[in-house]
Amino acid sequence: KIIILDFGSQYTQLIARRVRELNVYCEIHPFNNIPEITSDVKGIIFSGSPFSVRQADAPQIDLTKFHLKYPVLGVCYGAQYMAQQLGGEVQASSTREYGRANLNFVASGNKLFKNINLDSQVWMSHGDTITKIPENFELIASTDSVKVAAYQIKDSETYGIQFHPEVTHSTDGKQLLENFLVDICGCHQEWTSAAFVETIIADLKETIGDDKVVLGLSGGVDSSVAAVLLHKAIGTNLHCIFVDNGLLRKDEYESVLEQYKHLGLNIKGVDAKDRFLSQLAGVTDPELKRKAIGRVFIEVFDTEAHLVEDVKWLAQGTIYPDVIESISVNGGPSATIKSHHNVGGLPDFMKLKVVEPLKTLFKDEVRRVGTSLGLEHFIIGRHPFPGPGLAIRILGEVTPEKVAILQEADAIYINNLKEAGLYDKVWQAGAIFLPVQSVGVMGDERTYENAICLRAVESVDGMTADWCHLPYNVLAKISNEIINKVKGINRVVYDISSKPPATIEWE
Ligand code: XMP
Repeated sequence: KIIILDFGSQYTQLIARRVRELNVYCEIHPFNNIPEITSDVKGIIFSGSPFSVRQADAPQIDLTKFHLKYPVLGVCYGAQYMAQQLGGEVQASSTREYGRANLNFVASGNKLFKNINLDSQVWMSHGDTITKIPENFELIASTDSVKVAAYQIKDSETYGIQFHPEVTHSTDGKQLLENFLVDICGCHQEWTSAAFVETIIADLKETIGDDKVVLGLSGGVDSSVAAVLLHKAIGTNLHCIFVDNGLLRKDEYESVLEQYKHLGLNIKGVDAKDRFLSQLAGVTDPELKRKAIGRVFIEVFDTEAHLVEDVKWLAQGTIYPDVIESISVNGGPSATIKSHHNVGGLPDFMKLKVVEPLKTLFKDEVRRVGTSLGLEHFIIGRHPFPGPGLAIRILGEVTPEKVAILQEADAIYINNLKEAGLYDKVWQAGAIFLPVQSVGVMGDERTYENAICLRAVESVDGMTADWCHLPYNVLAKISNEIINKVKGINRVVYDISSKPPATIEWE
């Protein structure tokens, strides 16, 4: 495997994704919490950083641990840090260098630049530049404005590059990473979904043995894939619990439950609609709604888990970005902080051991694993849906009547997207109930009813998003159908806000 040491760059996860796309397993670790380097580590990548190496509080590591012992690739800050620490100089660039540049010099025959041509486009994003490299460094690539675009420490497999090979704008970036991984580190490109499934099932069998495991299924991709993996490993010792909180989409509880049973899962559906809805009565604040739903969920789940005699484990569908986020929240270098509901979500009173079979995977890898396990598109291709469900798509107080109206409108919306072949092109879509009343006219009658807002976004990870330019004719059909069929709605609007500054959900 490859270790990526994170100095806090926004691109660190992207490096990991590219390495994985090249079928090489890698892990990200914060620079200030480096694990023991085991014998299966074939090479190390140092990430970029929002810091400048010239700052007193810039991230520091002990280079002697790595740079002549393992192949090392320093990217941006990583390259500058090595150059500076080993006797070179780094200064503020006269102009901050962002964006496209082209290589105007490449050392011929250098392994890192195999199959990369002169003139290849690279992506720069830095405010500092390496102005002098130490004696034992060799310059191996330059651009017009950045002389030291890449170096190698002579007689070693340590390299530094100023540009970002992980972004797609570096056209040969993937080739460069492949050269590093395969030619320099000697990695075999064998890390595929099928290989992952085989090893994880063997691991799960070994760790869990004959113990019983409970898992809360949400109908979403992560918990579904986690369930199927565990089911393959331990069969009916896996007890799945699917709670109907009354805030799911129309008919979702029934159809998802049916689907899971079809997969052979040992699953229990729990109808707790009334409990959730009664706890939401009178609650208008979004965060209080979330808290109430979380609280009831834990109560319901705990009761159900206690019914599984002698259960030892709680399985969760935590995925790699959740783990990275929780590491960074707990003192890692990354600036992005988001509280997350999956990590550390274990209530104290459930003294169960936690098993998280997907915790090393990115979302797209989870989908691929799901596909290789034979999960149907119905589950794998589903849009993300928030844990608190429709409660945060009904602004203000949630009532059973509003839920019913929103379920109808949302079903019309989603079905139309599917019929128009747009569902798979949109990252997430849903309808929102707006508790404002406006005047309309239906037949000869004046109406005074609520509005539905349609939201559809494009995104990669939900952190940023743009609204989708859905065709007018599709929007027109959806609007007509909702107003004609859903009693209580006389107006439909479309949300054209991006994130940031708006968010995807309205609450
Ligand atoms: P926002 O609204 O923050 O949403 O732009 C980003 C993504 O997160 C989902 N989301 C949630 N998921 N519990 C969840 O499980 C929540 O409380 C929650 N709030 C937002 C949202 O649907 C989108 O995919």
